[in-house]
Amino acid sequence: MPAPADNLVEVENLFVSYATGHGAARVLDGVNLAIRPGEIMGLVGESGCGKTTLANSILGILPGNAACPGGTIRFRGEDLLRLPAGQVADGIRGRNITFIPQDPFGSFNPLFPIGTQIMEVMKWKSPRRSAREGRGMGGFFSRYPRARRRADRAAVLEMLRSVQIAKPQEALRKLPHEFSGGQRQRLMIALALLPQPKLVIADEPTTALDVTIQAQILKLLKRLAKERGVAVLFTTHDLGTAYEICDRITVMYAGQDVETAPVDDFFRRPHHPYTVRLLESLPRPGHDLREIGGEVPALVDPPPGCRFHPRCERASEPCRCERPPVTPLVGGHEVRCYHPIIPPPLPSPASGGG
Ligand SMILES: Nc1ncnc2c1ncn2[C@@H]1O[C@H](COP(=O)(O)OP(=O)(O)O)[C@@H](O)[C@H]1O
Ligand code: SF4
Ligand SMILES: [Mg+2]
Repeated sequence: MPAPADNLVEVENLFVSYATGHGAARVLDGVNLAIRPGEIMGLVGESGCGKTTLANSILGILPGNAACPGGTIRFRGEDLLRLPAGQVADGIRGRNITFIPQDPFGSFNPLFPIGTQIMEVMKWKSPRRSAREGRGMGGFFSRYPRARRRADRAAVLEMLRSVQIAKPQEALRKLPHEFSGGQRQRLMIALALLPQPKLVIADEPTTALDVTIQAQILKLLKRLAKERGVAVLFTTHDLGTAYEICDRITVMYAGQDVETAPVDDFFRRPHHPYTVRLLESLPRPGHDLREIGGEVPALVDPPPGCRFHPRCERASEPCRCERPPVTPLVGGHEVRCYHPIIPPPLPSPASGGG
């Protein structure tokens, strides 16, 4: 079935495992995820639940010990898992889909000025690079036509201004260590947006930064993505951050997607027992903290059915045998649970509640 016209990305029933010394770790277990054009989609879950694995699957950069025994990843209707690797590397990754990594410190080569590194990316991934250039000699010695180089450099300077890097001309001559972590993440945002992608994958992009810098970077990323109509897949373990930046949220637990909803509905009316417990575990005025009892399961030998069942008070026989299907609720809310928690109805405006 082709992807519905309103989804930019559709991940369907995706399975990924890693070969380990203890056997195959079944890290993604039939995951579904949709990203619409121009939206900021949050992929939220505790550390180890498979966020990076899903992000890297979409980017086509899974490590050598990974296997993908099933599923589809459709980008603008084409299944990336079935396209030739060269086509994804040349035409999609770094151009239509770009990436902001978690660690701004490891992202640049310490030996070269950042201008050299940014222009090297632009040589290959500039939106002004024509298909004809791609058929040239190829490899390291390929030409970088002078006119395009000039236009690309102007675009780089403009973009550095947009991400609020002071004195962009001088900045291009500096080495990476001359920038702070926050500035380097601004540079990464610039690099991600320069190819004019349709989707930026931002994998916990602010986790390595101070809290105040985090807020500035998130605001900047959101503003620039919205101005340009670029979709963002934003992964985070932090629900507060997701609330600040995302339009919709999908929650994962131990390699399974469990609930998806528009951000307001997600926080006001969670339905999945895991999501409810996750929200209850957040510090809030007037609420006692409630720990989620039990432990996240090992993924080499995960529990069958709903992977949350060993920790779930509502678990029944079907939960232990078969993974629940997606149940659509009102307003684009979806939950995978046999016994979802039904929140009380919202007070009607006439009742004056709230
Ligand atoms: N290359 C790998 N080989 C083996 N196990 C891995 C590899 N990469 C990740 N894992 C394991 O897969 C699980 C999911 O990891 P990851 O996708 O990084 O989760 P998250 O980004 O949500 O923290 C974790 O248990 C992690 O230890
Ligand atoms: S499917 Fe069953 S075990 Fe899983 S969250 Fe729902 S009630 Fe709990
Ligand atoms: Mg991760």
